[in-house]
Amino acid sequence: VKVTYVAHDGTQTTVEAEDGDSVMHAAVSNDVDGIVGECGGSMMCATCHCYVDEAWQDRVGPRSDGEEDMLEGAACEVNDRSRLSCQIKLGADLDGLVVHLPEEQF
Ligand code: FES
Repeated sequence: VKVTYVAHDGTQTTVEAEDGDSVMHAAVSNDVDGIVGECGGSMMCATCHCYVDEAWQDRVGPRSDGEEDMLEGAACEVNDRSRLSCQIKLGADLDGLVVHLPEEQF
C-alpha cells in the first residue's frame, strides 16, 4: 500500500506501508519528518495531525469525536481535512493515499 506525505515545504515522500498499518506508523517507521506520533497511536496526543488530500477525503471518511477533541490541542490550524493519522488504517482501498503535513506538531 503506497502513501505519499507532502511536507509543509512541498517535499513529497512516498512510502510502502503494510496493509492494516496506520498512516502515522507508516510515517514514523519510514522516518518521514512531520509526523511525530508521540503517544504511539492511542489518540492521546495530537502530534500525528495531518490533512487528508481533497481527492481522498471521501474515501478516508470523517474524523471521530475523540479525534475532534484531541485536535483541539493541535499545534497548527485544524480544518475540515484534519485527521489524526494514527486513526487512519491503510488497506487496498487507500492505496496511493496522499496526506499533507502541518508545519509543526508541537
Ligand atoms: Fe497520538 Fe495519533 S499518535 S494521537
